[in-house]
Amino acid sequence: VLRSAVTGVGGFLPEQVITNEDFAKTVDTSDAWIVERTGIRQRHKVDPGMKTSDMAVEAAKVALAAAGRDVSDVDLIIVATTTPDMPFPSTASIVQHKLGAPTCPAFDVQAVCSGFVYALSVADGFVARGLSKCVLVIGAEAMSQLLDYSDRGTCILFGDGAGAVLVEPVEGTGNNTDKGILGFDLRCDGSKVDLLYVDGGTFESENRIGKIRMQGNQVFKQAVQKISQAVEAAVEKSNLSIADIDWFIPHQANQRILKGVAERLGLDEAKVVSTVAQHANTSAASIPLAWYTAVQDGRVKPGDLVLIEALGGGLTWGAAAIRL
Ligand code: ACO
Repeated sequence: VLRSAVTGVGGFLPEQVITNEDFAKTVDTSDAWIVERTGIRQRHKVDPGMKTSDMAVEAAKVALAAAGRDVSDVDLIIVATTTPDMPFPSTASIVQHKLGAPTCPAFDVQAVCSGFVYALSVADGFVARGLSKCVLVIGAEAMSQLLDYSDRGTCILFGDGAGAVLVEPVEGTGNNTDKGILGFDLRCDGSKVDLLYVDGGTFESENRIGKIRMQGNQVFKQAVQKISQAVEAAVEKSNLSIADIDWFIPHQANQRILKGVAERLGLDEAKVVSTVAQHANTSAASIPLAWYTAVQDGRVKPGDLVLIEALGGGLTWGAAAIRL
């Protein structure tokens, strides 16, 4: 059976760090409030002159090296981003050129915070169909560019960064103990656009890009239940049970959401990889960044069963089970 497998993981964080105290100087908030309600202590911010594509390129280089592949091997580039360098062309086109990759297909996927899970499913389809053999799936975000720094309910939540994985084909028996991407569950409820969106774009009167607008407590209410449903469905589609999960690598939105999902699923909190304190919510970059962190510190190892999940604007949400 032909399957796709994740063979390398990489990440990149810009140097600039913004602490909770930094926000307390400009809006009515405090480190104590932010830590208690979100678990966030700091976030990185894209360095001057750097764009989303530059962070994507750095993360991609690390993932390629981890997989022992050269950039000349790459035959598909998918970038999940909600902060493209420009409205068009895709950030993936720019990344291809900056990386010096071959003239392979390259495009972006827009599913906001769920973008990495969606993009990985697209890569899985290309590989399983025999169309691609070396796919870069990158989540890269400069969320700082979309923030209204006078809105304390949103500006404290987000961070910048990039993460990447390399996806390659593997031959296996079809058993869920074999290496490979085992199953997905992806969903969208477009009736909930108003809960989380950017108020600009093509049809905005002054053609501005706009800023993030969010009904935070409404998103929060949706999150735990919807994420848990997707995780249970992805596990079931992979003929696994929740107890089989070695590492739960969620989208890093809020420590309370991570805790709520773990409790609802009966998952040991020691199996939850959390980088929310250091990275905050880096949207489509958060899962591969957290994954990279847990590979680097030796937690996530070959043979482990990793479960990823995300929920974000759309609303979009989804989960995937992956054997390393
Ligand atoms: N500092 C101090 N007070 C604040 C801050 C802040 N940074 N932000 C909001 N408040 C205030 C509000 O103004 C409100 O004050 P009021 O009662 O005087 O009106 C009060 O705190 C309570 O506001 P709520 O929005 O009900 O607070 P809540 O406990 O829900 O926490 C938060 C807000 C942290 C945004 C939470 O709702 C949340 O994390 N929601 C999830 C949203 C999210 O993660 N979105 C990211 C994208 S989607 C995703 O990735 C899952």
